[in-house]
Amino acid sequence: MATGESFYITTPIFYVNDVPHIGHAYTEVAADVLARWHRQRGDDTWFLTGTDEHGQKILRTATANDTTPQSWADKLVSEAWQPLLEAINISNDDFIRTTDERHENGVRIFLQRLWDAGFIYTGEYKGYYCVGCEEYKQPSDLVDGTGQYEGQLVCAIHSIPVELLEEKNYFFRMSDFADRLLALYEERPDFVQPESARNEVVSFVKRGLDDLSISRSSFDWGIKVPWDESHVVYVWFDALMNYATAVGFGVDDETFARRWPATHIVGKDILRFHAVIWPAMLMALGEEPPARVFGHGWLLVGGEKMSKSKLTGIAPEAITSTFGIDAFRYYFMRAISFGQDGSFSWEDLSARYQAELANGFGNLASRVIAMVTRYRQGAVPETGATTPADEHIYAVARDATQQADAAIERLAIHESLAAVWQLVDALNGYITTQEPWALAKDEANAERLDTVLATAVHGLGALAVLLAPVLPQAASTLWGAIGGEGEVSAQAIDHAFEWSGSGRVTPLAAPLFPRIEADTPATPTPATSKA
Ligand code: ME8
Ligand code: MG
Repeated sequence: MATGESFYITTPIFYVNDVPHIGHAYTEVAADVLARWHRQRGDDTWFLTGTDEHGQKILRTATANDTTPQSWADKLVSEAWQPLLEAINISNDDFIRTTDERHENGVRIFLQRLWDAGFIYTGEYKGYYCVGCEEYKQPSDLVDGTGQYEGQLVCAIHSIPVELLEEKNYFFRMSDFADRLLALYEERPDFVQPESARNEVVSFVKRGLDDLSISRSSFDWGIKVPWDESHVVYVWFDALMNYATAVGFGVDDETFARRWPATHIVGKDILRFHAVIWPAMLMALGEEPPARVFGHGWLLVGGEKMSKSKLTGIAPEAITSTFGIDAFRYYFMRAISFGQDGSFSWEDLSARYQAELANGFGNLASRVIAMVTRYRQGAVPETGATTPADEHIYAVARDATQQADAAIERLAIHESLAAVWQLVDALNGYITTQEPWALAKDEANAERLDTVLATAVHGLGALAVLLAPVLPQAASTLWGAIGGEGEVSAQAIDHAFEWSGSGRVTPLAAPLFPRIEADTPATPTPATSKA
């Protein structure tokens, strides 16, 4: 991708029935890393996140808490969902709520156009519905309940009974789009990622698509159907449109043309909504489908998806309060192959923190800065004659930059970090073999010591620039300490290896990743549920 191109990235908009856990934080961090990377490439980046506030799930939660859905949503957004973004240092450009006037207005425009174009008709619906998923279920999606639900059919995801619905509804002619969707998946093999997600979606659509019931008349917490106010729009139909309404769909054509289409980062639980229903809705209006839909894996607890409804959620603060925000971000991006499931464990987090952040990266930064301070009074020296060992560092820096950038292009965040870590490891090896402390003992080696220190500082500069998207705080501190000019987040990431440090270092006031003495819990601590 050439710099300057539009890069519009989104997360799902999360249900406000309860507070966030590390699963939601995981999606936010992944999208944030991609957004920060693209900004540092000079792309015209826009990062959207937000909340999904209509539908029965929110209505029931509010009622159970003796309040209205609007005041429940207001409270959860201001007390839990917006603070999450601060808590993990998310750089979103916008935050959309489905109760925003701009969104409700855009949904009415979208729906009216579908109606005028003949893609909506009235029909009868009879079938099972899971309020947890806010989704109509096929018999094959259900399993026999156990315990208190013995003898009932329950949702395989939420383990709660489904409800039989029978209503006159409006339907979207989704069945018309099966062939065009299959052609899209065929023409653009990277439209749905990863490969496993793509295969699942293709075989789902090959079985044929039903039309989709898109309205409800048994409750009124939702956006009214413009031509029939006795119905509200089905919560998913409403929610998916946020990606368009947030960037001016129907009201600001210039902004919409500038931003759309988007790269959608979602959990694999909601892949079909994004890879099947949403593109069909867009096709019906003659709009471009999304750029890409990436379905990442689940954070698991005891082999099951961590979830709000099963009270297995861990609050992000349980981790950031001990390890810090940067380590939180790093851990989930590094330890889990983006696209695969991953089990969170305190032991693994602790071990990686110590080995990779405290010893691998943090200690490298402290040592190099301390040596420039001690041997050269803080002035970064000029490079003298170089040896293959120095050339190797320059080559690794260049390769790491290029490989990391190419990995981000494929949305392989873990591979990008692994590529950058080649430079961390190479620099640690370089310091060990070049032994600057030994060179410092003899004035005859002064030029060689200059070159070694300059090369090491050069490497740190490349690391600060390359790690800024994942470790914004540590990268900024390091950049300042080695005399980098301006904000590290403003440095061209695809040219990270070109930085030639010259200037002064300032000793770090504290290690970038201090030793952690506190005991960490051996087992996951559930987040408290407010619902
Ligand atoms: O589905 N591991 O909202 P939601 C990884 N409102 N990611 C997880 C996770 C886990 N254990 N648990 C949740 C909705 N997530 C709809 C979306 S979009 C138009 C509407 C993350 O609050 C992951 O991104 O149930 C998942 O897809 C999302 O939270 C579901 O959030
Ligand atoms: Mg959910």
